Amino acid sequence: MIREIRGSDCQAVVALWNRCLTRDLTTEARFAAWLFADADFDTEHGKGAWVEESGGQIAGFVRAIRRELPNDRLGTESSLGWIPVVFVAPEHRRKGIGTELLEKALAWLRENGVEKVWVCGNSGSAPGYLFPGIDMDVYADAKGLFEKCGFVTDRQAVSMTTTLLDYDPEYHEQVARRGGAGEGITIETLSPASVMNFFTFLRTSFPGDWNTAARNKVKAGDFSRVLIAWNEGEVVGYCQWEDDGHFGPFGVAASMRGKGVGALLFLESCRRLKKTGAREVWFNWADPGAARFYGRLGLNSTRTFHVVRKDF
Ligand SMILES: CC(C)(COP(=O)(O)OP(=O)(O)OC[C@H]1O[C@@H](n2cnc3c(N)ncnc32)[C@H](O)[C@@H]1OP(=O)(O)O)[C@@H](O)C(=O)NCCC(=O)NCCS
Repeated sequence: MIREIRGSDCQAVVALWNRCLTRDLTTEARFAAWLFADADFDTEHGKGAWVEESGGQIAGFVRAIRRELPNDRLGTESSLGWIPVVFVAPEHRRKGIGTELLEKALAWLRENGVEKVWVCGNSGSAPGYLFPGIDMDVYADAKGLFEKCGFVTDRQAVSMTTTLLDYDPEYHEQVARRGGAGEGITIETLSPASVMNFFTFLRTSFPGDWNTAARNKVKAGDFSRVLIAWNEGEVVGYCQWEDDGHFGPFGVAASMRGKGVGALLFLESCRRLKKTGAREVWFNWADPGAARFYGRLGLNSTRTFHVVRKDF
């Protein structure tokens, strides 16, 4: 039986999640923050998150999202839907439960006017984000399920990392600057006086949820973990990070790409991370172009994902 989730299912769903998503474990508190406190989740009716109940036990779960609140200036993106996760208990697999859960989620999205569904999204718009798509090393069975339900692979994405212990930003900067790249670019820490220029750049170059992430940094007073790049009096790039080495979001204006701006931003972040004691720099999601950029800077991929989509 498929039914909407209830608050009292939390413990059982999280226990099952941790049996199924072995690379992406969670806790009840994180699950409650991710689902029950998600402003796009209908806590009154539970629509958007369904469980399969079998003999009084939870045997599967799916989450589907359509936005009720605007994604910054992009609005509610009403033709788009997202499925961040689906899983079925190992002992109940290959009985059609995954298909039923996914079809339930797809029918609900379609009834609500959605025309395109992402697992799990794009830069600037990935509500409910847990991972970029299907991790092909551990969750490859899911690819068959999504294909059966009409999804196609849009692109691959990777997670990447490098140790910072012997990482040499000076060496990589010399390489990156060959041929005059990066000339005229100034990299500096975000300051209260540059916040207006910064958000003017972000709203045009990277509309969507990166603005929200940057606003949260500024609201938290966390200026020291945001760098901006200036060229001829305009902000043309930025990056932000956390002390544990989690890097990003990170972006350069389209007209300024391929000129070394991104490398200067990334390398300066690495210098600062090293000084604050981080042992590695890492991120979960790079699309193919970005992955080539990071590969040149010595990062290695740790996970490979298929980002899949379905057009109704
Ligand atoms: C992916 C998952 C949800 C599928 O659940 P399920 O209940 O077994 O799905 P179904 O029985 O409806 O199978 C649907 C289709 O998926 C494909 N599939 C599922 N398991 C497969 C496997 N081991 N090998 C090949 N194809 C498989 C098949 O096409 C299958 O259709 P078929 O049985 O008619 O051939 C389940 O394997 C799971 O929970 N995996 C771990 C969590 C996970 O990967 N979640 C997705 C993260 S993005």
